[in-house]
Amino acid sequence: MEALLSSTTFPVKRALYSPPSDKPLQFFPTKINLNRPQKSSHSVQKNASFSLSLPLRISASAQTAPSTEASTSSSVPSEMKAWSYSEYGAVDVLKFESNVAVPEVKEDQVLIKVVAAALNPVDFKRRLGKFQATDSPLPTVPGYDVAGIVVKVGSQVKGLKEGDEVYGDIHEKALDGPKQFGSLAEYTAVEEKLLALKPKNLDFAQAAGLPLAIETAYEGLERAGFSSGKSILVLGGAGGVGSLVIQLAKHVFGASKIAATASTPKLDFLRSLGADLAIDYTKENFEDLPERFDVVYDSVGQCDRAVKAVKEGGSVVVLTGAVTPPGFRFVVTSNGEMLKKLNPFLESGKVKPLIDPKGPFPFDQVKEAFSYLETGRATGKVVIYPIP
Ligand SMILES: NC(=O)c1ccc[n+]([C@@H]2O[C@H](COP(=O)([O-])OP(=O)(O)OC[C@H]3O[C@@H](n4cnc5c(N)ncnc54)[C@H](OP(=O)(O)O)[C@@H]3O)[C@@H](O)[C@H]2O)c1
Repeated sequence: MEALLSSTTFPVKRALYSPPSDKPLQFFPTKINLNRPQKSSHSVQKNASFSLSLPLRISASAQTAPSTEASTSSSVPSEMKAWSYSEYGAVDVLKFESNVAVPEVKEDQVLIKVVAAALNPVDFKRRLGKFQATDSPLPTVPGYDVAGIVVKVGSQVKGLKEGDEVYGDIHEKALDGPKQFGSLAEYTAVEEKLLALKPKNLDFAQAAGLPLAIETAYEGLERAGFSSGKSILVLGGAGGVGSLVIQLAKHVFGASKIAATASTPKLDFLRSLGADLAIDYTKENFEDLPERFDVVYDSVGQCDRAVKAVKEGGSVVVLTGAVTPPGFRFVVTSNGEMLKKLNPFLESGKVKPLIDPKGPFPFDQVKEAFSYLETGRATGKVVIYPIP
């Protein structure tokens, strides 16, 4: 990880984030108190650009079954602060609300006091209305990724208890009936099976950046039949998913060779993640290289070109855009067991969470965070922290 700092030419104002076990990359001025989430120094009430007086009171109870919790923390309020939108559209449809009903938990769910969340492209694609046919009803509290503390458990919850520090992607199916009430809120209700205990060496901001991206990276590699000794080309290696595909391919699957694409300033970053060959897509076409790969993992939407770089009989994993055979596309399924399986690689520091150096964005800057993610230039994950 030292190499990441010393060799990068990436124009960052702060070091890229890395787990506390690596010490050199810490940039929070103070350590997060894991048991008592700190109040944001960027209090939402102080931000004049906020619309705090919206009359809308969003109720979660229409979506969820009557509460059947076995254990309840008396300190959970009935209302919370949250970001939401009542119509599909650009970033301006996002409104800050201060009186959203705290979701009730179903019997297989826990209620999480959210400490940190992260944004994914699916959040803005969903907000733009691209998945209307299978979306939950408006208004929507966006947010898939969460890290926080369990404050209430449903009656059928077996493995989690109040006070547990957890993380996960709260929507089992990313596009098919995602919850109405996501993680960009003070509280969110999540099925136990979608969660795992937060790796001990990671703080909440680091953990929040992992779930959807690492589950996508892992599921794609598995579906491609990736295994030890195989080579891979990762298109979009500096993004939230791509940066984890490189790390998993190297440290979990045992890749023989990893090539990845990014723009000029991010080539050292690719190498620091484990890429043997960093390809500058502004200067060369990856499909013109003489080499062919066992797997091409396309997180950019270049399948028509990706299929030219794969060996005969190899696999092309596609996350977005049109699919050209033999490419195949899948949509990630949230899976707490997968996070548990990857836990040793995270706790050993082999696989590292990467927070974009423009963040973490405090809760009052969720719109700015979305606008940044929507440029398509993020490096690693866009994280929201702290959440009051
Ligand atoms: N199907 C699924 O289940 C699933 C799951 C997760 C994500 N996705 C989709 O996968 C895509 C990637 O997600 P993400 O979270 O990784 O996005 P992201 O973090 O926003 O990706 C940003 C990165 O993409 C890189 N990039 C942009 N154009 C590129 C190009 N032509 N060649 C190489 N790199 C390029 C950028 O690097 P530069 O600045 O160097 O260009 C930037 O670092 C999104 O469309 C998302 O919706 C699908």
